[in-house]
Amino acid sequence: MTENIDRFGRRITYLRISVTDRCNFRCIYCMPASGVSWQPHAEILRYEEIIRVVRAAATLGIRKVRLTGGEPLVRDGIVDLVASISDISGIEEITLTTNGTLLPHYAKDLAHAGLARVNISLDTLRPDRFRQITRLGSLNDTLAGIRAAQEAGLVPIKLNAVVMRGINDDEVADLAAMTKDNFQVRFIEWMPIGTSNVDFGSRFVPGDEVRAHIEESLGSLEPLREEGPARVYRLSRFPQGGQIGFISTFSSPFCATCNRIRLTADGKLRPCLLSPIEIDVKAPLRAGATDEEIRRLVLSGIERKPLAHGVASDVPRNREMSQIGG
Ligand code: 5AD
Ligand code: SF4
Repeated sequence: MTENIDRFGRRITYLRISVTDRCNFRCIYCMPASGVSWQPHAEILRYEEIIRVVRAAATLGIRKVRLTGGEPLVRDGIVDLVASISDISGIEEITLTTNGTLLPHYAKDLAHAGLARVNISLDTLRPDRFRQITRLGSLNDTLAGIRAAQEAGLVPIKLNAVVMRGINDDEVADLAAMTKDNFQVRFIEWMPIGTSNVDFGSRFVPGDEVRAHIEESLGSLEPLREEGPARVYRLSRFPQGGQIGFISTFSSPFCATCNRIRLTADGKLRPCLLSPIEIDVKAPLRAGATDEEIRRLVLSGIERKPLAHGVASDVPRNREMSQIGG
């Protein structure tokens, strides 16, 4: 099969699906202070529509699906969606990115429905900062979600931290030290998407700086491998511990090995997070497109994947991160 190879020889095996633009947090790097106006329900793909797209994608060689948001667990029926996707032939792994707050309620059922693992956003271990960064969240709720995911066997858990100067950059060693308990910790460069990133220039922290800071505090990092967009290390002091990943979208773009496409909550295929190209699948789905027509649309999403995303100034501001899917 060669259909999932794009013009630049990249094999596209991974589909990220935003199931909702809604969220019970308003993280400062994801949404503007004024909040975003949620899309009306009618604009959001129904589960049957998402499932049709995934089926088509699976015939083209998509093997992994990640559900994102907004916050995917605020959408009713998410467990059924996981179960339906896991029944699709060709789909080998389903994962989910969440802020964790609803995991105490859903973790077991999600695991049972076929979810493999979760990524949980955790930018700080300090309750006051957690509130400042998420605007609405409470650290204890997310920590309870992390425990629930562990108990349900959704492991290894990846903890995602977006590093921001003057906000949480002094905590990177504390976060990295969580690998002692077998968490995988991933430091993500802040991306200036949407309108929430007014202080981007002064707050951006390159991944190399985070790495140097961790090594100063905790000793050497042993490089292990590159895994998708992440450069993966382990702290030499915790040889049995979890891994530390750096996702350095801006300082070190990983476009050459990018293996993913995205589906937004309102039914647009996005070949690249940072390019404005979108292919509407919702209108065709609702106009009675055949499976073959849907398959062709997904294929055109793969074919139109750009070689590389532009510099920060070219990044589209017309959509918030919560609308594209983090
Ligand atoms: N820059 C980098 N990562 C972001 N996320 C959300 N907004 C941004 C941004 N502007 C990521 C966070 C979160 C996930 C849902 O999306 O890591 O964990
Ligand atoms: Fe919600 Fe995640 Fe965006 Fe935070 S980063 S507002 S938890 S979607």
